Amino acid sequence: MAIIRHYQESDATSVGKLIADTYSEFNLGFVSPQELGLFLGPFRHAGSPEKPHQEAIAQVIRSALVLVAEDDGEIVGVLRGRKDRLGSLFVRGDHHRQGIGRGLVEQFELEYLQQGATVIRVAATLYAVPFYLAMGYKRSTGVRTGWSFEGHGLQVQPMRKVLGKG
Ligand SMILES: CC(C)(COP(=O)(O)OP(=O)(O)OC[C@H]1O[C@@H](n2cnc3c(N)ncnc32)[C@H](O)[C@@H]1OP(=O)(O)O)[C@@H](O)C(=O)NCCC(=O)NCCS
Repeated sequence: MAIIRHYQESDATSVGKLIADTYSEFNLGFVSPQELGLFLGPFRHAGSPEKPHQEAIAQVIRSALVLVAEDDGEIVGVLRGRKDRLGSLFVRGDHHRQGIGRGLVEQFELEYLQQGATVIRVAATLYAVPFYLAMGYKRSTGVRTGWSFEGHGLQVQPMRKVLGKG
């Protein structure tokens, strides 16, 4: 059973690897191996022992609110966001469909509801659209094509949820 807690800087290496692996596997399948690094940005160096690589990863993870899901001492999920905006969400593939994404999103919504947020927006990956629909989010525009670090061509579905409306 995973627990959800606030991220600490000492989690940066594990979270960096989780993001690099999950993003590559589930969202960047359309990218050629040569171009993958462009789309991963600093996360292409996940697991590197070099300090500048580690600092660049820690820097890009930082956000107003970062939550992690921990199972048996291992980080298996992460959500980054700020008031009104869910920035990114990743759950390790071998832990999908266990309610971890739901737990992270519910905790995020609760914390910002308590701070007076009324709407949460997210640019959902196409992979995650059924998940966000199940969480009560609705499509707010058509699909957009945009940037991921220096890589262009990632398709996202802008979605939104009015808090307190189920
Ligand atoms: C999207 C993601 C975070 C969902 O995490 P998860 O922990 O597997 O989701 P949950 O188990 O909490 O799912 C809650 C509900 O969402 C729906 N859902 C989740 N994944 C789904 C899928 N692949 N297909 C259809 N419905 C899905 C289901 O209704 C599910 O409830 P159920 O399992 O009881 O049927 C995870 O698939 C992931 O990390 N994907 C790759 C990265 C990504 O695309 N992130 C989104 C960035 S915006």
